[in-house]
Amino acid sequence: MKYALPVAISAALAVGAALAKPQVDVEPPAPTAEIKASRAAAQQFGVTLKEALQQAVKASGPISGIQVCHEQAAQIADKLSTEREMLVRRTSLKVRNPNNTPDNWELAVLKQFDARKAQGEPVDNLEFFAVIDDDQGQKTFRYMKAIPTSSLCLNCHGDTISPEVDAKLKELYPDDKARGFKEGDLRGAFTLAKPIP
Ligand code: HEC
Repeated sequence: MKYALPVAISAALAVGAALAKPQVDVEPPAPTAEIKASRAAAQQFGVTLKEALQQAVKASGPISGIQVCHEQAAQIADKLSTEREMLVRRTSLKVRNPNNTPDNWELAVLKQFDARKAQGEPVDNLEFFAVIDDDQGQKTFRYMKAIPTSSLCLNCHGDTISPEVDAKLKELYPDDKARGFKEGDLRGAFTLAKPIP
């Protein structure tokens, strides 16, 4: 009985300390091979596309930029998917091309990115990955990385779009939802998938 009280108090203190300081001293786990490969593939996709887009817009204006996004985006994605042996695509909560519509898992992650952005996390930092069973029951590693909106993007995804660009976009994408973005907004995400044997 003599020791009961101090023991109870120190136990309560220990629990309190553990609750107040959850896992802060724990190092995050080292990135796996899949995470490293996904980060590299997403980065390469982004850089390749942005360079092609910037070059086209600079050389012959936003209309030829549309051609890059319309034709080359999917080609670059296919080439990367083969080279990197993982499916590489882009998606968004507001898509221009309906082929880029998110599936359920992607939709949940995009909403999570939106919420994290609202909590103050920089869009550049937003990524998420998980191992899930796909529709066929295939175990799959999935990875997403947020794509921020920069000033270049506003030519075709902003509020004020020039009449020629507007006309071309309407012709190619009658269901276009990817307008009205502002600099710093979450434009969408790179999304990658790799089946796990
Ligand atoms: C010259 C016009 C133009 C510019 C500038 C542009 N885009 Fe796009 N964007 C498009 C077109 C066209 C598509 C549809 C591509 C397709 O058919 O898959 C598209 C599609 C996308 C998609 C795929 C999701 C969807 O909406 O279908 C993302 C993500 C995207 N753009 C992000 C960006 C970002 C980020 C920038 C700036 C760095 C940017 N875009 C600049 C024209 C443009």
